[in-house]
Amino acid sequence: MRLSAQQWPILATVGAVLLFGCQRKHPGPTPQPRPAEPQQQAAQAEPPAPPIVHNTAGTGSKYRFSIDWVNTQGRAQSWPVVLKDLMGKKNLRGLEVGSFEGRSAIWFLDNVLTDESSTLTCIDLFAPEYDGIFDANIKASGRARRVTKIKGYSDRALRTLKPNTYDFIYLDGCHKAHCTLEDAVMSWDLLKVGGVLMFDDWLWNMDLPITERPKIAIDVFAEIYAPFIKVVPLLNSHSFFLVKTGDTRDSSTELWYKNFYNKK
Ligand SMILES: C[S@@+](CC[C@H](N)C(=O)[O-])C[C@H]1O[C@@H](n2cnc3c(N)ncnc32)[C@H](O)[C@@H]1O
Repeated sequence: MRLSAQQWPILATVGAVLLFGCQRKHPGPTPQPRPAEPQQQAAQAEPPAPPIVHNTAGTGSKYRFSIDWVNTQGRAQSWPVVLKDLMGKKNLRGLEVGSFEGRSAIWFLDNVLTDESSTLTCIDLFAPEYDGIFDANIKASGRARRVTKIKGYSDRALRTLKPNTYDFIYLDGCHKAHCTLEDAVMSWDLLKVGGVLMFDDWLWNMDLPITERPKIAIDVFAEIYAPFIKVVPLLNSHSFFLVKTGDTRDSSTELWYKNFYNKK
Protein backbone atom coordinates (compact mmCIF):
# COMPACT_ATOMS: atom_id res chain seq x y z
CA MET A 1 0.00 0.00 0.00
CA ARG A 2 1.35 3.40 -0.96
CA LEU A 3 0.70 6.30 1.43
CA SER A 4 -0.16 9.73 0.18
CA ALA A 5 1.73 12.83 1.31
CA GLN A 6 -1.20 13.69 3.68
CA GLN A 7 -1.19 10.18 5.25
CA TRP A 8 2.51 10.25 6.31
CA PRO A 9 2.16 12.76 9.20
CA ILE A 10 -0.87 10.85 10.55
CA LEU A 11 1.11 7.60 10.53
CA ALA A 12 4.05 9.29 12.26
CA THR A 13 1.78 10.70 15.01
CA VAL A 14 0.12 7.29 15.62
CA GLY A 15 3.57 5.65 15.83
CA ALA A 16 4.81 8.21 18.34
CA VAL A 17 1.70 7.77 20.50
CA LEU A 18 2.12 3.96 20.46
CA LEU A 19 5.80 4.17 21.28
CA PHE A 20 5.22 6.66 24.09
CA GLY A 21 2.38 4.53 25.42
CA CYS A 22 4.62 1.43 25.50
CA GLN A 23 7.29 3.26 27.34
CA ARG A 24 4.79 4.36 29.92
CA LYS A 25 3.54 0.78 30.31
CA HIS A 26 7.03 -0.67 30.70
CA PRO A 27 8.85 2.02 32.54
CA GLY A 28 11.66 -0.30 33.59
CA PRO A 29 12.52 -1.11 37.09
CA THR A 30 10.87 1.22 39.48
CA PRO A 31 13.58 3.04 41.37
CA GLN A 32 13.64 1.46 44.76
CA PRO A 33 13.89 3.68 47.74
CA ARG A 34 17.50 3.66 48.98
CA PRO A 35 17.92 1.23 51.78
CA ALA A 36 18.00 3.09 55.00
CA GLU A 37 21.53 3.88 56.12
CA PRO A 38 22.47 1.39 58.78
CA GLN A 39 21.92 3.05 62.07
CA GLN A 40 25.23 4.19 63.48
CA GLN A 41 26.01 1.75 66.23
CA ALA A 42 25.82 3.73 69.37
CA ALA A 43 29.49 3.99 70.31
CA GLN A 44 30.18 1.51 73.09
CA ALA A 45 30.85 3.86 75.88
CA GLU A 46 34.12 2.71 77.41
CA PRO A 47 34.42 3.37 81.09
CA PRO A 48 36.66 6.41 81.55
CA ALA A 49 40.27 5.49 82.29
CA PRO A 50 41.19 6.17 85.87
CA PRO A 51 43.35 9.28 86.24
CA ILE A 52 47.09 8.67 86.26
CA VAL A 53 48.56 8.85 89.74
CA HIS A 54 51.80 10.79 89.94
CA ASN A 55 53.66 10.05 93.11
CA THR A 56 55.23 13.13 94.55
CA ALA A 57 57.78 13.90 97.20
CA GLY A 58 58.25 16.91 99.40
CA THR A 59 56.25 18.55 102.09
CA GLY A 60 53.12 16.63 102.95
CA SER A 61 54.00 13.62 100.81
CA LYS A 62 54.09 10.16 102.29
CA TYR A 63 57.13 9.43 100.10
CA ARG A 64 60.76 10.37 100.27
CA PHE A 65 62.54 10.67 96.92
CA SER A 66 65.83 12.37 96.15
CA ILE A 67 65.41 12.48 92.39
CA ASP A 68 62.61 12.15 89.84
CA TRP A 69 63.26 9.86 86.87
CA VAL A 70 59.55 9.16 86.40
CA ASN A 71 57.84 12.49 85.79
CA THR A 72 60.66 13.75 83.60
CA GLN A 73 61.65 13.32 79.94
CA GLY A 74 58.18 12.13 79.03
CA ARG A 75 58.35 8.78 80.81
CA ALA A 76 55.16 9.10 82.85
CA GLN A 77 53.37 10.36 79.74
CA SER A 78 54.38 7.38 77.59
CA TRP A 79 53.92 4.56 80.10
CA PRO A 80 50.11 4.87 80.13
CA VAL A 81 50.19 4.65 76.33
CA VAL A 82 52.35 1.57 76.05
CA LEU A 83 50.75 -0.19 79.04
CA LYS A 84 47.15 0.85 78.44
CA ASP A 85 45.91 -2.68 77.65
CA LEU A 86 47.27 -3.94 80.94
CA MET A 87 46.18 -1.20 83.31
CA GLY A 88 43.97 -2.52 86.08
CA LYS A 89 43.79 -6.12 84.84
CA LYS A 90 43.83 -8.98 87.30
CA ASN A 91 46.80 -11.28 87.94
CA LEU A 92 49.37 -9.11 86.21
CA ARG A 93 53.03 -9.79 86.79
CA GLY A 94 55.40 -6.84 86.45
CA LEU A 95 59.19 -6.97 86.69
CA GLU A 96 61.55 -4.05 87.16
CA VAL A 97 65.34 -4.06 86.95
CA GLY A 98 66.65 -0.94 88.69
CA SER A 99 64.27 0.23 91.41
CA PHE A 100 66.40 2.72 93.35
CA GLU A 101 64.08 4.49 95.83
CA GLY A 102 60.95 2.84 94.43
CA ARG A 103 59.55 5.72 92.44
CA SER A 104 58.95 3.85 89.18
CA ALA A 105 57.82 0.79 91.13
CA ILE A 106 55.16 2.86 92.89
CA TRP A 107 54.06 4.33 89.56
CA PHE A 108 53.50 0.82 88.17
CA LEU A 109 51.67 -0.23 91.34
CA ASP A 110 49.48 2.87 91.34
CA ASN A 111 48.60 2.84 87.66
CA VAL A 112 48.98 -0.64 86.17
CA LEU A 113 49.19 -3.25 88.91
CA THR A 114 46.20 -1.81 90.70
CA ASP A 115 44.31 -5.04 91.19
CA GLU A 116 44.95 -6.83 94.45
CA SER A 117 45.93 -9.96 92.51
CA SER A 118 48.74 -8.25 90.59
CA THR A 119 52.36 -8.21 91.72
CA LEU A 120 55.69 -6.50 91.03
CA THR A 121 59.18 -7.97 91.33
CA CYS A 122 61.96 -5.42 91.89
CA ILE A 123 65.60 -6.28 91.22
CA ASP A 124 68.31 -3.88 92.37
CA LEU A 125 71.62 -3.82 94.16
CA PHE A 126 69.72 -1.84 96.80
CA ALA A 127 72.78 0.04 97.96
CA PRO A 128 72.71 0.59 101.75
CA GLU A 129 72.04 4.33 101.49
CA TYR A 130 68.87 3.77 99.40
CA ASP A 131 67.69 0.37 100.60
CA GLY A 132 65.78 1.72 103.60
CA ILE A 133 64.25 4.51 101.50
CA PHE A 134 62.94 1.94 99.01
CA ASP A 135 61.41 -0.11 101.83
CA ALA A 136 59.83 2.92 103.48
CA ASN A 137 58.38 4.20 100.19
CA ILE A 138 56.95 0.81 99.21
CA LYS A 139 55.45 0.48 102.69
CA ALA A 140 53.93 3.97 102.39
CA SER A 141 52.35 2.97 99.06
CA GLY A 142 50.28 0.43 100.98
CA ARG A 143 51.18 -2.28 98.49
CA ALA A 144 54.25 -3.86 100.07
CA ARG A 145 52.45 -7.21 100.26
CA ARG A 146 52.44 -7.38 96.47
CA VAL A 147 56.11 -6.45 95.96
CA THR A 148 58.94 -8.98 95.85
CA LYS A 149 62.37 -7.48 96.36
CA ILE A 150 65.43 -9.27 94.96
CA LYS A 151 68.74 -7.81 96.02
CA GLY A 152 71.69 -8.47 93.73
CA TYR A 153 73.15 -8.12 90.28
CA SER A 154 70.45 -8.37 87.66
CA ASP A 155 72.25 -10.94 85.50
CA ARG A 156 72.25 -13.34 88.47
CA ALA A 157 68.79 -12.43 89.75
CA LEU A 158 67.05 -12.76 86.38
CA ARG A 159 68.24 -16.37 86.09
CA THR A 160 66.23 -17.31 89.17
CA LEU A 161 62.87 -16.22 87.76
CA LYS A 162 60.24 -18.31 86.03
CA PRO A 163 60.05 -18.19 82.21
CA ASN A 164 56.98 -16.92 80.41
CA THR A 165 55.62 -15.16 83.48
CA TYR A 166 55.72 -11.39 83.11
CA ASP A 167 53.28 -9.06 81.36
CA PHE A 168 55.77 -6.22 81.30
CA ILE A 169 59.42 -5.76 82.18
CA TYR A 170 61.05 -2.38 82.81
CA LEU A 171 64.83 -2.32 82.33
CA ASP A 172 66.43 0.61 84.14
CA GLY A 173 69.39 -0.94 85.96
CA CYS A 174 73.00 -0.98 84.88
CA HIS A 175 73.37 1.23 81.81
CA LYS A 176 76.51 -0.24 80.27
CA ALA A 177 75.93 -1.84 76.88
CA HIS A 178 76.80 -5.38 78.01
CA CYS A 179 74.49 -5.13 81.06
CA THR A 180 71.64 -3.85 78.92
CA LEU A 181 72.13 -6.69 76.44
CA GLU A 182 72.31 -9.31 79.20
CA ASP A 183 69.22 -7.91 80.93
CA ALA A 184 67.33 -7.85 77.63
CA VAL A 185 68.21 -11.40 76.57
CA MET A 186 67.50 -12.82 80.01
CA SER A 187 64.25 -10.90 80.29
CA TRP A 188 63.12 -12.19 76.91
CA ASP A 189 62.40 -15.69 78.14
CA LEU A 190 60.65 -14.35 81.25
CA LEU A 191 58.27 -12.19 79.22
CA LYS A 192 54.96 -13.65 78.03
CA VAL A 193 54.13 -13.50 74.33
CA GLY A 194 52.15 -10.26 74.10
CA GLY A 195 54.16 -8.76 76.96
CA VAL A 196 55.87 -5.38 76.83
CA LEU A 197 59.62 -4.88 77.19
CA MET A 198 60.51 -1.34 78.24
CA PHE A 199 64.05 -0.06 77.97
CA ASP A 200 64.84 3.19 79.69
CA ASP A 201 67.53 5.61 78.58
CA TRP A 202 67.90 4.48 74.99
CA LEU A 203 69.61 7.76 74.09
CA TRP A 204 71.27 8.29 77.47
CA ASN A 205 74.65 10.05 77.51
CA MET A 206 75.31 9.80 73.79
CA ASP A 207 78.74 11.36 74.24
CA LEU A 208 80.01 8.34 76.21
CA PRO A 209 81.81 5.49 74.39
CA ILE A 210 79.23 3.12 72.93
CA THR A 211 80.08 0.34 75.38
CA GLU A 212 79.25 2.63 78.31
CA ARG A 213 75.66 3.37 77.37
CA PRO A 214 72.57 1.31 76.44
CA LYS A 215 71.84 2.33 72.84
CA ILE A 216 73.91 -0.18 70.89
CA ALA A 217 72.60 -3.06 73.01
CA ILE A 218 68.97 -2.02 72.51
CA ASP A 219 69.47 -1.52 68.76
CA VAL A 220 71.21 -4.88 68.30
CA PHE A 221 68.60 -6.64 70.41
CA ALA A 222 65.78 -5.12 68.37
CA GLU A 223 67.52 -6.11 65.10
CA ILE A 224 68.12 -9.70 66.14
CA TYR A 225 64.68 -10.24 67.63
CA ALA A 226 62.93 -8.36 64.81
CA PRO A 227 60.86 -11.38 63.64
CA PHE A 228 59.46 -11.81 67.15
CA ILE A 229 58.76 -8.25 68.21
CA LYS A 230 56.74 -5.19 67.35
CA VAL A 231 58.59 -2.00 68.04
CA VAL A 232 56.32 0.64 69.52
CA PRO A 233 56.72 3.96 67.69
CA LEU A 234 58.81 6.36 69.72
CA LEU A 235 56.84 7.95 72.52
CA ASN A 236 59.69 9.88 74.08
CA SER A 237 63.37 10.33 73.44
CA HIS A 238 64.43 8.33 76.47
CA SER A 239 62.56 5.07 76.17
CA PHE A 240 62.41 2.21 73.72
CA PHE A 241 59.39 -0.04 73.95
CA LEU A 242 58.62 -3.29 72.17
CA VAL A 243 55.97 -5.98 72.33
CA LYS A 244 56.91 -9.66 72.20
CA THR A 245 54.85 -11.09 69.36
CA GLY A 246 56.27 -14.58 69.10
CA ASP A 247 58.28 -17.23 70.84
CA THR A 248 61.80 -17.63 69.49
CA ARG A 249 61.91 -21.21 70.74
CA ASP A 250 59.05 -22.31 68.46
CA SER A 251 60.86 -21.10 65.36
CA SER A 252 64.27 -22.55 66.25
CA THR A 253 62.72 -25.94 66.94
CA GLU A 254 60.75 -25.77 63.71
CA LEU A 255 63.95 -25.02 61.81
CA TRP A 256 65.67 -28.04 63.30
CA TYR A 257 62.82 -30.30 62.37
CA LYS A 258 62.83 -29.01 58.81
CA ASN A 259 66.57 -29.03 58.30
CA PHE A 260 67.68 -32.04 60.24
CA TYR A 261 65.18 -34.47 61.67
CA ASN A 262 62.97 -34.60 58.61
CA LYS A 263 65.91 -35.36 56.33
CA LYS A 264 67.00 -38.40 58.26
C1 LIG B 1 68.34 4.94 87.35
S1 LIG B 1 68.24 4.05 88.82
C2 LIG B 1 66.62 3.36 88.72
C3 LIG B 1 65.56 4.39 88.89
C4 LIG B 1 64.18 3.84 89.10
N1 LIG B 1 63.74 2.99 88.02
C5 LIG B 1 63.23 5.01 89.22
O1 LIG B 1 62.73 5.46 88.18
O2 LIG B 1 62.97 5.48 90.30
C6 LIG B 1 69.25 2.67 88.46
C7 LIG B 1 69.27 1.60 89.54
O3 LIG B 1 69.88 0.44 88.98
C8 LIG B 1 70.58 -0.23 89.98
N2 LIG B 1 71.62 -1.05 89.33
C9 LIG B 1 72.72 -0.66 88.69
N3 LIG B 1 73.40 -1.70 88.21
C10 LIG B 1 72.72 -2.81 88.56
C11 LIG B 1 72.91 -4.19 88.35
N4 LIG B 1 73.93 -4.67 87.66
N5 LIG B 1 71.99 -5.05 88.84
C12 LIG B 1 70.93 -4.59 89.54
N6 LIG B 1 70.68 -3.27 89.74
C13 LIG B 1 71.57 -2.40 89.28
C14 LIG B 1 71.14 0.86 90.86
O4 LIG B 1 71.38 0.37 92.15
C15 LIG B 1 70.05 1.94 90.78
O5 LIG B 1 69.23 1.86 91.92
